[in-house]
Amino acid sequence: MAHVIAVAGKGGVGKTTICGLLIQYLCEQGKGPVLAVDADANSNLNEVLGVQVETTLGDVREEIARAEMAKENPIPPGVSKADYAEMRFEDALVEADDFDLLVMGRTQGKGCYCYVNGLLQAQLSRYQNNYPYFVVDNEAGMEHISRGVLPTMQTAILVSDCSRRGIQAVGRIARLIEECGLHPQTVGLIVNRAPQGQLNEGIKEEIALQGLHLLGVVPQDETIYEYDCDGKPTSQVPEDNPVRKAVRQIVDSLQL
Ligand SMILES: Nc1ncnc2c1ncn2[C@@H]1O[C@H](COP(=O)(O)OP(=O)(O)O)[C@@H](O)[C@H]1O
Ligand SMILES: [Mg+2]
Repeated sequence: MAHVIAVAGKGGVGKTTICGLLIQYLCEQGKGPVLAVDADANSNLNEVLGVQVETTLGDVREEIARAEMAKENPIPPGVSKADYAEMRFEDALVEADDFDLLVMGRTQGKGCYCYVNGLLQAQLSRYQNNYPYFVVDNEAGMEHISRGVLPTMQTAILVSDCSRRGIQAVGRIARLIEECGLHPQTVGLIVNRAPQGQLNEGIKEEIALQGLHLLGVVPQDETIYEYDCDGKPTSQVPEDNPVRKAVRQIVDSLQL
């Protein structure tokens, strides 16, 4: 069964960058194949990983949910809805060397998605037999996990920037995880973009106030910024990059 690692935090704090480096490191250690899941509505994990996405699961869900209403039903005669869905969900899987990527894509529009969400949930749980790790890049609300479409996580990594408000936001996510009745074995915090990789006293105090478990600190780094500006995949920064090194150290400490 796949060990599910969910990364969450508010927008712009570095979740996707950290997810990319985490996936990269698991693959580098021979722990692949990893299933990378982009569950952020503002999806761009593919850019950080350097792969192209054609179809999202949201597109497929939409297609199936509206099949009967469409001018031309996309489901060929004699093929069941469930079989067609399975085939189209497979199409949405992007295959790279050491990892595969699925993009959840848009969340549902009007209409009933219960049936198609159920099919997707079943398919994702079957995938749990094919991969030792799922790494899920979430938005703050972790909608796909809280709705049960994505399997629940054993490890929750909450990412914050170096601000009190960032830490408070992550504190709310930690409480949301409890309220949703999810019981990860580990809930830990990564503080990203710390100047010189150092936490100041105010931030340390806020982390303690929120009762968060600090996994590690990732420095602010110019190379990540440059790669991003040049449109290069940030998961491919040089081996000795300080952000890459910090993520490695954190992953080692998790003893996955
Ligand atoms: N440690 C870091 N140093 C410098 N820039 C960073 C760092 N982490 C992330 N960034 C940059 O910050 C921006 C937001 O990061 P991203 O990973 O997309 O955040 P999120 O997924 O939380 O929205 C991106 O431009 C990214 O390259
Ligand atoms: Mg992101």
